[in-house]
Amino acid sequence: MLKFRFFSDLLKLTPDRQRVIPVALTALLIQMSGVVLVLLAANLFHRTFNVTFFPVYVVIALSCVAALIARFLRLDWWWCVIEAVFPWLVWFAATLQLNPQIYLFLFLFLFALCGATLFSRVPYYPSPDRAVEMLAQQLSPERPLSVLDVGSGFGGVLFGLSEKFPRFRYAGIELALFPFLVSWCRAKLRGESNVSIHFGNYEDMDLAAFDVVYAYLSPVVMSGLWEKVQREMLPGTIFISYEFVVHGRKPDFAIQCGYEEIYLYGWKM
Ligand SMILES: C[S@@+](CC[C@H](N)C(=O)[O-])C[C@H]1O[C@@H](n2cnc3c(N)ncnc32)[C@H](O)[C@@H]1O
Repeated sequence: MLKFRFFSDLLKLTPDRQRVIPVALTALLIQMSGVVLVLLAANLFHRTFNVTFFPVYVVIALSCVAALIARFLRLDWWWCVIEAVFPWLVWFAATLQLNPQIYLFLFLFLFALCGATLFSRVPYYPSPDRAVEMLAQQLSPERPLSVLDVGSGFGGVLFGLSEKFPRFRYAGIELALFPFLVSWCRAKLRGESNVSIHFGNYEDMDLAAFDVVYAYLSPVVMSGLWEKVQREMLPGTIFISYEFVVHGRKPDFAIQCGYEEIYLYGWKM
């Protein structure tokens, strides 16, 4: 009983809805527990009834057990689907008999692309062109501004704005290695000295140096980011978020971006 309480404590949500163990790691632990349970059960059956299972039955059992554990732990429904499908994918991949180095390469590439999501809880997806257009309409070309994109991805927002306002100064900071490297190379190849890309966590960056801070992140990080914005951004500057609001903070403007219910929100400091 004590063990179960401890286990559920590890899986519960903290007040800002962050899991103590990242959900992706929980998902992996579920698969590993499923493998142990199913193999133990198969072994027991074999010893007791002298029954040997075809691999496909082991995969079916693992698929069901993993999905049920995910359900029991109250993970979101899509995690239950992922848990159910994952053993089939592993089985299918095993039948292909590919060179194991391909998997190593794929793993390293995917980790460089989105491994940071395990900790940041913010995956990569680009702002649409329409959001960049709307953002540009909020900026006045008369006075050169400094613009920061927190979580700059492949740099699309910064390079898009830089084409419209070449006199502005732009900075991006990105936690995921591959998008950082690509955007850093893009900045060098384009020879744009007014665009600088940094590798790291935006939480360590001082927002006081910027007139405009743009974010396209995720609902789970917005309250933490808002606290930082309030602490550091100077009067007269502006914080803009695409799609995600700050709960309990009415924005000074909300512009619909051509998609239903998706807005560009702005807060003037
Ligand atoms: C939704 S994408 C937006 C990319 C880009 N800003 C755009 O609008 O096209 C969010 C990006 O933020 C990055 N990110 C998330 N948390 C971060 C953090 N704490 N510090 C730096 N980058 C972060 C992610 O790796 C991801 O590339």
